[in-house]
Amino acid sequence: MDGRREGASLAGPEGFDWLERMQPAGGSGGPGLYAVIRTRFFDDFLLDACERSGVRQVVLAAAGLDTRAFRLDWPSGTRLYEMDLPEVLDTKEAVIEAAGARESCERRTVRVNLKEETWPEALLAAGYKAEEPSVWLIEGLLFYLPEAAVHGLLDKVTTLTATGSLLGLDLMNRNLLFSPMAWPQLSALAWRGARGRFGTNVPEALLAGHGWEANVTQPGEAGANYGRWTRPVAPREIPGVPRSFLVKARRRS
Ligand SMILES: C[S@@+](CC[C@H](N)C(=O)[O-])C[C@H]1O[C@@H](n2cnc3c(N)ncnc32)[C@H](O)[C@@H]1O
Repeated sequence: MDGRREGASLAGPEGFDWLERMQPAGGSGGPGLYAVIRTRFFDDFLLDACERSGVRQVVLAAAGLDTRAFRLDWPSGTRLYEMDLPEVLDTKEAVIEAAGARESCERRTVRVNLKEETWPEALLAAGYKAEEPSVWLIEGLLFYLPEAAVHGLLDKVTTLTATGSLLGLDLMNRNLLFSPMAWPQLSALAWRGARGRFGTNVPEALLAGHGWEANVTQPGEAGANYGRWTRPVAPREIPGVPRSFLVKARRRS
């Protein structure tokens, strides 16, 4: 089975229905498009780290039902760690088994609560080597965490990474967190127990505070467009605009 088919069988009809529902009637855009752009952006980021920078350790924090271990064409020797809550990874194993999907790298699952102090030990026990270069992805998580938990998580990632390691993550800004325009979506998330809690207008400063040099792109800008984002993107100098950010960062010495 090729990677594309692996991804489709793992997403299942529910995944495609969700994407359909997230498209505004008769047009493009909406949360579905954000998810599509974000996925491709970080697919390229992770593969680039492995192919061009020679990294062979990939860590997906809060991996959820991420299908990259199955979908992407990883260079040989790549070891990919998926961290998430035990019940989520257990459910995922059942989905993988039902789909008959095969990973295209060495995949290791690490059942942890990322709010607890002890998760780094579990990752190390699974074989991760902190002294070797790595690429990390924290996708779809930081928005939902209290600020102290965001800093706690980033501190630990910094402790676990060698100079030159790479980190991808997505963030919302403060204006989005409090935007009346985003209210229907935010309240629907809150109703499902996933309230938005964290936003920053300056991802560069957040990452610098933890020892990382960040490169920040807004969905729709060059490098995160893929010919799909048709609406204009407000430059960052314009204040008061709700925004999301796709961040690539490099660990400073
Ligand atoms: C919105 S999903 C994102 C999943 C995946 N990264 C993606 O972008 O498709 C958030 C994920 O964070 C996980 N998560 C939330 N709190 C967590 C915690 N304290 N420890 C570990 N995982 C957590 C959830 O189980 C869920 O899989």
